[in-house]
Amino acid sequence: MKQWLAEPPLIITEARGMHLIDSEGRRYLDGVASLWCNVHGHRVPQIDQAIRRQLDRVAHSTMLGLASEPAIVLADRLMPLAPAGLSKIFYSDSGATATEIAFKLAAQYWHNLGRGEKNQFVGFADGYHGDTVGAMSVGRMEAFHRPYFPMLFKAHFAPPPTSQTALDALEQILQRHGGRMAAVCLEPIVQGAGGMLVQPPGLLWGVRKLCDEYGVLMIADEVAVGFGRTGKMFACEHESVSPDLMCLGKGISGGYLPLAATLASERIFDAFLGEPWEGKTFFHGHTYTGNPLACAAAIASLDLFEKNHLVAAVARKAVELGRMLEPLRSLKHVGDIRQKGFMVGIELVADKQSRRAFDPRRRVGAEVCHKIRRRGVILRPLGDVIVLMPPLAMELDDLRTIVAAVEAEASAIGE
Ligand SMILES: Cc1ncc(COP(=O)(O)O)c(C=O)c1O
Repeated sequence: MKQWLAEPPLIITEARGMHLIDSEGRRYLDGVASLWCNVHGHRVPQIDQAIRRQLDRVAHSTMLGLASEPAIVLADRLMPLAPAGLSKIFYSDSGATATEIAFKLAAQYWHNLGRGEKNQFVGFADGYHGDTVGAMSVGRMEAFHRPYFPMLFKAHFAPPPTSQTALDALEQILQRHGGRMAAVCLEPIVQGAGGMLVQPPGLLWGVRKLCDEYGVLMIADEVAVGFGRTGKMFACEHESVSPDLMCLGKGISGGYLPLAATLASERIFDAFLGEPWEGKTFFHGHTYTGNPLACAAAIASLDLFEKNHLVAAVARKAVELGRMLEPLRSLKHVGDIRQKGFMVGIELVADKQSRRAFDPRRRVGAEVCHKIRRRGVILRPLGDVIVLMPPLAMELDDLRTIVAAVEAEASAIGE
């Protein structure tokens, strides 16, 4: 807040297509898709109209004990796209709620089967699942969550899923504690908030295999990677993996309105069936769960995915984006560039040879992103990793503008 108060904030008052427009009328390319969620750009007529049409019917009605039409239609549309075996949906309103729900479902699944001792979780170092207590417990990030560590529940952690070491460590944890373990949770293919860490081929599949071998559920947190981000509709598709529970958020509504979902397999759903007095009920609900306006936006977004063949387009454009980024690798302060689809992390370092990081007090990543605004681009770093997460519909010319802005400011970093 000290830094925030030191200068007037940039206030966004409008948007059009790929641009955000501030209170002074200045235009900026939305290079982080309004925190990784925008898909088709802003003020998309089809999505705007879908929301207006829904507004003329009902803005909100509860899903506690009632159903709503847009939520039903959206479920119908999503299920055929989801990995095989996922057939049930539990709506909520943010990525963190989607992961909290997955953890609670996993723990109660075992409880309902009479295996209440299986109530622990394994996460991966550098994993992030949101900022609520359960999500922080399994996705524990030193930089964000340190003050809350004492209030988090116990979890086990394998090393970052960037090498075989992580799978070996996971197997050891499961060998020792499998009988107490409810689920393993990971961000498939790319750990986003951890710094855009791309996983080697086979890792995701390896996690699925270990979960099966040791009788533990697998939770895939697709909040960041889902909805086309990595060049597949869902990241699990890269390795034909079907998790037991899958968390969706961010891009689900095209980045328009707060909406999230936790998908579950039939076997999990079945474990919750019983008479009210049997105590199998999943007592979890949020006021705006499955909000009809958000679901209407999500349906319109899926229509556009289909109409524009958007996932294939991302896969194609990502190759070009990779080419654009190539020259940045030789910059003095660029230590690494990691990319999968439309997820990019450009790591800035003090010394290229040794990969020595900058003194965090210099806040080099924040400074670079701040200067980039003068070039008409909004970016937001993760520490000294510059993140590019453009809306999936962004075309090559705009991507070029963003990459050129990063190149110019990264080249100008002083000693
Ligand atoms: C992988 C992952 N899970 C969960 C979340 C939390 O989502 P939300 O901010 O909507 O609560 C995020 C947010 O960045 C995320 O990247």
